[in-house]
Amino acid sequence: MLCRDIQTWVLIFLVISPTIFNISLSAGLDSRRAAKKRRMSEKVRKMFYHAYDNYMTYAFPHDELKPLTKTFTNSLSELGNLKLEYLPQKYNGSALTLIESLSSLVIMGNNTEFEKAVLWLSDNLTFDVDARINLFECNIRVLGGLVSSHILATDSTSRLVQGLYKNQLLFLAEDLGRRFLPAFDTPTGLPYAWINLKYGVMENETTETSTSGCGSLILEMGALSRLTGDPRFESAALQALRKLWSMRSSLNLLGTTLDVATGEWIEYSSGIGAGVDSFYEYLIKAHILFGRDEFWRMFQSAYLAVQKYFRHGPWYHEADMRTGKATYWQLTSLQAFWPGLQVLVGDIAAANSSHREFVYLWEKFGVLPERYLLDHQMLHPTEKYYPLRPELAESTFYLYQATKDPWYIEVGESIVDSLNLYTKVEGGFASIKDVTTMDLEDHQHSFFLAEMCKYLYLLFDDSFLVDRNYIFTTEGHPLPVMSSWHERIPTYIQSNGTSVKSENLAKRAHAMSLRVCPATTLNSGHSSQRIESACHIHDARGDHRCSTDDDCGVDSTTCRQRSCSMAGYCGLWFFV
Ligand SMILES: *[C@@H]1O[C@H](CO)[C@@H](O)[C@H](O)[C@H]1NC(C)=O
Ligand SMILES: *[C@@H]1O[C@H](CO)[C@@H](O)[C@H](O)[C@H]1NC(C)=O
Ligand SMILES: *[C@@H]1O[C@H](CO)[C@@H](O)[C@H](O)[C@H]1NC(C)=O
Ligand SMILES: *[C@@H]1O[C@H](CO)[C@@H](O)[C@H](O)[C@H]1NC(C)=O
Ligand SMILES: *[C@@H]1O[C@H](CO)[C@@H](O)[C@H](O)[C@H]1NC(C)=O
Ligand SMILES: *[C@@H]1O[C@H](CO)[C@@H](O)[C@H](O)[C@H]1NC(C)=O
Repeated sequence: MLCRDIQTWVLIFLVISPTIFNISLSAGLDSRRAAKKRRMSEKVRKMFYHAYDNYMTYAFPHDELKPLTKTFTNSLSELGNLKLEYLPQKYNGSALTLIESLSSLVIMGNNTEFEKAVLWLSDNLTFDVDARINLFECNIRVLGGLVSSHILATDSTSRLVQGLYKNQLLFLAEDLGRRFLPAFDTPTGLPYAWINLKYGVMENETTETSTSGCGSLILEMGALSRLTGDPRFESAALQALRKLWSMRSSLNLLGTTLDVATGEWIEYSSGIGAGVDSFYEYLIKAHILFGRDEFWRMFQSAYLAVQKYFRHGPWYHEADMRTGKATYWQLTSLQAFWPGLQVLVGDIAAANSSHREFVYLWEKFGVLPERYLLDHQMLHPTEKYYPLRPELAESTFYLYQATKDPWYIEVGESIVDSLNLYTKVEGGFASIKDVTTMDLEDHQHSFFLAEMCKYLYLLFDDSFLVDRNYIFTTEGHPLPVMSSWHERIPTYIQSNGTSVKSENLAKRAHAMSLRVCPATTLNSGHSSQRIESACHIHDARGDHRCSTDDDCGVDSTTCRQRSCSMAGYCGLWFFV
């Protein structure tokens, strides 16, 4: 059952070649497509630098750019802070957008600027500031940005030439991680949503937090522990995740908000959007990064419950975790990440059909509105904004990687065109206040550089992914998948890295045929068939592919048997 998801995952990150499709395109069409991708990647590069250079000119070292007035905002302490409470008096920012841009600079091949930025941060960044920050936001943006950049600065590619890098980003990350730890000092081990970087948890701090807030820490904090050798970060995040999981209902559903002191739910309704989204994402990605069965088991149960209780055709509504009854029939812009996650799982057809609905909505409005009422077919009256969210671009990137269907390139082109048409101003890229009027708001979010530009660029130019497996955090920061971070090497991989293709393996791979259709009950007697996958192992290519259709399992939307291609990859698209 493990390999079901992994097959496609491998397809994405190891095989970037279109050879799996036995379609011979004419050479002319091929080269026109290649030229288009080059042109588009150049356009995206220009977008990134327009955002970046304006930030550096008008906002750095503050947190984010206000592109309309060409000034800055020290917004790290405002993230997630809807009522803008307890804002610091003496806080000058943490160069948030620069930290968020680091991995994008590397992906676009700008090593000189990357090096300059790394050295500036090494010299000048401090977290000893009297600022109350949102743990989740600071983790995914700042800790994730630093950890990812540290790895990119020290991998074998010698991006830094001056020899001045002595793990400074890792020291900064470790310092930040230590400042996170007091947040976990609660009766449940679930972390407070807010912490003051200098003084720790504030008096009378709210005990309310979200599922994402407790369940989206393991990638960054786990990576930090692996890099520093200090187990406290990973262990705090893991404990919180386990506690959260223990709070699921008998339907394997979770709510959206909870109390960290009592471990009780506050909001019982949840879906796949705001407040919950990255919880699901981190279960599967943690499984890929750390190779633990525990994460896979949680993910599989959670994923099946989502498909069973939230899905309605290509749409996902919300439901009450206790009864599974639908609550809100709303589509939110954040949900557009889900098809990307489904690509990692291997549910390409389900991903494709949901993605299409988001694309139609994008085309209808020019961008994606924050919230759309499915039952009334209208915009939510107070959430008509589009703050440059990257989730549709992200899913488009994943779907193109998995299918190489040129249609996704056109979707990417349409996203690029809309962004340039509606949101580009002289001083950067501005958020949209109201998609019906296209009025702008004076804010360029750091995720525009960390995610939007990165995923669009990778859609058109994936050379960064060619010789390495990466997973991307929920903020788009790449973390390499390394066998040394895995619990244990799968038994059928020899210690010298060669894999053994045995009958035994073929038999065990059969467990992938476990159905994931919402309508079917799970056979729980499969545990003995659970296998470890070699697919995560960076240097063990080739021998973990499917050999027969039985290896490939069933698609969760259509309930159709997926098939094994000549090249050994699972997919439903081979029928078409
Ligand atoms: C913030 O910047 C102002 C103006 O440059 C400076 O006077 C102040 O000392 C700075 N505050 C902190 C906490 O660094
Ligand atoms: C790197 O970024 C800097 C700052 O935007 C720019 O001046 C430089 O031309 C870029 N270099 C490359 C190779 O893109
Ligand atoms: C750190 O900031 C100071 C003041 O802005 C600047 O002069 C110095 O060059 C910075 N350090 C690096 C390595 O860029
Ligand atoms: C914390 O709450 C208590 C009880 O409501 C109150 O007396 C105290 O002033 C509060 N402290 C702060 C710093 O707000
Ligand atoms: C995606 O859906 C469209 C429309 O139903 C279909 O034409 C296309 O073949 C599908 N692509 C994949 C990869 O499933
Ligand atoms: C790896 O180990 C296996 C089993 O010990 C052996 O058969 C194989 O030749 C080794 N491969 C290499 C490349 O050393």
